[in-house]
Amino acid sequence: MDFKGRHLLTLFDFTTEEIKYFLDLGGELKKEFKEHGGHPNREPLKKSLGMMFEKTSTRTRVSFEAGIWELGGQPIFLSFRDTQLVGTGETPGDTAQVLSRYLGGIMARVYKHKTLQDLAKYSTIPVINGLCNLYHPCQILADLQTIREHKGKLKGLKLVYVGDGNNVCHSLLIGCTKMGMDVSVVCPDDYRPDEKITKKVLEIAKKMGTKLEITKDIPSGVKNADVVYTDTWISMGDEAQKEIRLKIFKDYTVNKELMGHAKSDAIFLHCLPAHRGYEVTDEVIDSKQSVVFDEAENRKHSQKAVLLAFMKD
Ligand code: CP
Ligand code: NVA
Repeated sequence: MDFKGRHLLTLFDFTTEEIKYFLDLGGELKKEFKEHGGHPNREPLKKSLGMMFEKTSTRTRVSFEAGIWELGGQPIFLSFRDTQLVGTGETPGDTAQVLSRYLGGIMARVYKHKTLQDLAKYSTIPVINGLCNLYHPCQILADLQTIREHKGKLKGLKLVYVGDGNNVCHSLLIGCTKMGMDVSVVCPDDYRPDEKITKKVLEIAKKMGTKLEITKDIPSGVKNADVVYTDTWISMGDEAQKEIRLKIFKDYTVNKELMGHAKSDAIFLHCLPAHRGYEVTDEVIDSKQSVVFDEAENRKHSQKAVLLAFMKD
């Protein structure tokens, strides 16, 4: 696999085989870490990762920071607020050219996907999307690793995403379809996933021979689900719409009744942070079916695979 000169902005840019490579390597790194508490048989990475955050984070920051350190590299945390991007309005292009002279890679969490594209355009080092308005690819690599661990496979499974057709939903549509899974999105009419992204995913689904369904009907959408997934109704940046969103999504809580429409051995995933009592009830997220903390753990393992793939000489 050759990832030289490439960036990880969206899973659209990666083949089924490349995604599988990340998952396999993530699995290997997880095993090594469990056995040795590190990677004693690998050459240390000895490179720095700039971690730029325009929005808050717990998992992405900590998993990347711990991950690069465990590989023998170094993290440098850069809050947008404290950089000249915001301080003096330095452009993403100039910022990327400067950072390319110091670092081995950039991970960025931003509001607009365009900011990532601008960083990538001028960067001579890999730029990794740590979440933007449209995508959250690193989350989905961890999700796929988690599903494969619990179900033993991906191909042929049905994942049902319940809630807002947001960044996480978009990346799930792409990643799951590329891995041969059927995807059903259960959401209110006005909160369907982006039309252009859906169209592109439909083309992939056609090639892969998988199904993609978008419906507002919970019982039929969730039927036969192997995986039930939800995310917040109010993503970072959507706070002004809080009141209206709480009303519109109130029937889309993943509760015991909703899980009853899925297969009896279905697993529950959530990228976290969870808003208990809103998109998911305690009884579901704390149930035996829930694998949300394995999922959160796998952020670190699967991202270490990404860091090695993109940053190793
Ligand atoms: N799932 C996820 O990206 O979590 P954080 O916002 O805490 O990074
Ligand atoms: N959709 C959420 C994901 C948080 C990890 C957001 O963008 O805020």
